[in-house]
Amino acid sequence: MRDYLHLFVNGKEHKISGSEAFQPLSTFLRWGLGATGTKIVCEEGDCGACSVLVGKLKDGKIDYQPINSCIQLLYQADLSHIITVEGLKQNGHLNPVQEAMVECHGTQCGFCTPGFVVAMCEYFDRSKSPCAQGIKDSVTGNLCRCTGYEPIIKAGLNVDMAGIVPLSELYPPAEMSKIFAKERSESVLIKTEDKTVFLPANLADAAKFKSEHSDAIIIAGGTDVCVVMNKRAYAPKVVMSFGNIEGLNEISVSENHIKVGATATLSQLEAFVKDRVPEFFHLLWVFGSPQIRNAGTLAGNIANASPIADTPPFLFVMDAVINLTSSKGNRQVRINDFYKGYKKFDMQADEFISSVEIPLPAKGEMVRLYKVSRRKHLDISTNTAAFKFKLNGNKIEDITIAYGGVAAVILRLPKTEAFLKGKQIELDVFHQAAELAVSEITPISDVRGSKEFRLQLAKNLLSKLFYEIKEGRIAACQQ
Ligand SMILES: Cc1cc2nc3c(=O)[nH]c(=O)nc-3n(C[C@H](O)[C@H](O)[C@H](O)COP(=O)(O)OP(=O)(O)OC[C@H]3O[C@@H](n4cnc5c(N)ncnc54)[C@H](O)[C@@H]3O)c2cc1C
Ligand code: FES
Ligand code: FES
Repeated sequence: MRDYLHLFVNGKEHKISGSEAFQPLSTFLRWGLGATGTKIVCEEGDCGACSVLVGKLKDGKIDYQPINSCIQLLYQADLSHIITVEGLKQNGHLNPVQEAMVECHGTQCGFCTPGFVVAMCEYFDRSKSPCAQGIKDSVTGNLCRCTGYEPIIKAGLNVDMAGIVPLSELYPPAEMSKIFAKERSESVLIKTEDKTVFLPANLADAAKFKSEHSDAIIIAGGTDVCVVMNKRAYAPKVVMSFGNIEGLNEISVSENHIKVGATATLSQLEAFVKDRVPEFFHLLWVFGSPQIRNAGTLAGNIANASPIADTPPFLFVMDAVINLTSSKGNRQVRINDFYKGYKKFDMQADEFISSVEIPLPAKGEMVRLYKVSRRKHLDISTNTAAFKFKLNGNKIEDITIAYGGVAAVILRLPKTEAFLKGKQIELDVFHQAAELAVSEITPISDVRGSKEFRLQLAKNLLSKLFYEIKEGRIAACQQ
């Protein structure tokens, strides 16, 4: 059993033990290493000023992704290579992205600039044919308060691609890969007077630890938990994080369903469903930001049990199954039976989610997902809705509906579903369905919208569905 973290920062090796392992990654970089290019502004994943690249072992190579270092704990970076803005220079000089930011006046106060540079550098490293939309997408997690986005996008468009040195050449992966591959076969346990973190090497070790420490808090991407830690001084005594378990981040497809491992990130899922379930892909594309999706997981979205979480309504209409693991074995729970009240669910203290199985839409089925939020990217939903249905001519043969943001838990709308089955696709029918829908929900007023607004939204989404069906804008699954 290892009792220290082993990671690299800008190519330099670090072994960290004791209480230092529990600090946020951004704190370690700035105050531990003096890498002050990484800025801390919002401390809640919203602005991207703290963006760094996290490289993890993947197929013998190191795969880099931008994440928000303010909401990552240092132990989540075990067996990773972190690249900060300081580590992106090439031969001691500014790299082509940095050059373009200077040339195109992409910076004023400069607080946001390292984050933009980090996000864009990853995009140019990954992208074979960069384009304006790709550049914009890559910086949706980065906020600038003074320059305005036009010069920043212009900088992206003026990057001298020929001058970019790939990250794999800047930091040859051979030595790091060897260390990461060797060390992940061993679990890590770090204990201080008042805190414990366990990084299991396999599911059996994880289940054993959870059976012995039922109070252990699981941290996956940390995009929910770490915000609470930063903003509400939440300090769990015992934590367990699964990042080193080989294979737990896999996503696979069988004949009629996909299986998503507990540590698969939302970015991995986004790429996986792009052609298989385009509607779910689009929902994931507007989920948080690239930095959030590169860390956050589907399991975390489910277990955080927020009634405005974006993925559960889709999982409800697809009747997804959650695989729970404990030292006693595995247990399956349908997501439709999982939630028992606000933040209450059918998961015992010694259990954790090991994977989620999502049936794929059957031939002829249509899926439509709505996220209502104040802005398109990087925003939490006010209301969400998922519809899965099948048409027969001008009739609705079958329909399943789930609404989020309208009660303490995500809701199925059984009365509305029963009413719509077999009905003609006519506006009046959808207006009647909308009246039934509001009788099935109990929204409250909060910062994202009043009760009245949410009731109106619940109705309007059914009208919107009607118009989109009529206009032929929803495609049926062909497989
Ligand atoms: C800036 C920002 C934007 C966001 N945007 C969105 C958005 O657009 N839509 C949305 O729905 N959410 C959003 N979120 C919330 C968050 O990113 C998601 O809920 C995400 O899916 C959480 O996943 P995670 O892996 O980071 O979870 P964590 O924070 O690691 O964990 C969340 C909860 O799940 C539990 N948990 C995690 N893994 C397991 C497991 N395997 N077994 C049992 N319990 C487990 C944890 O103990 C914790 O209670 C946003 C958050 C931030 C900070
Ligand atoms: S400081 Fe704003 S996202 Fe980290
Ligand atoms: S340059 Fe000041 S916040 Fe962007």
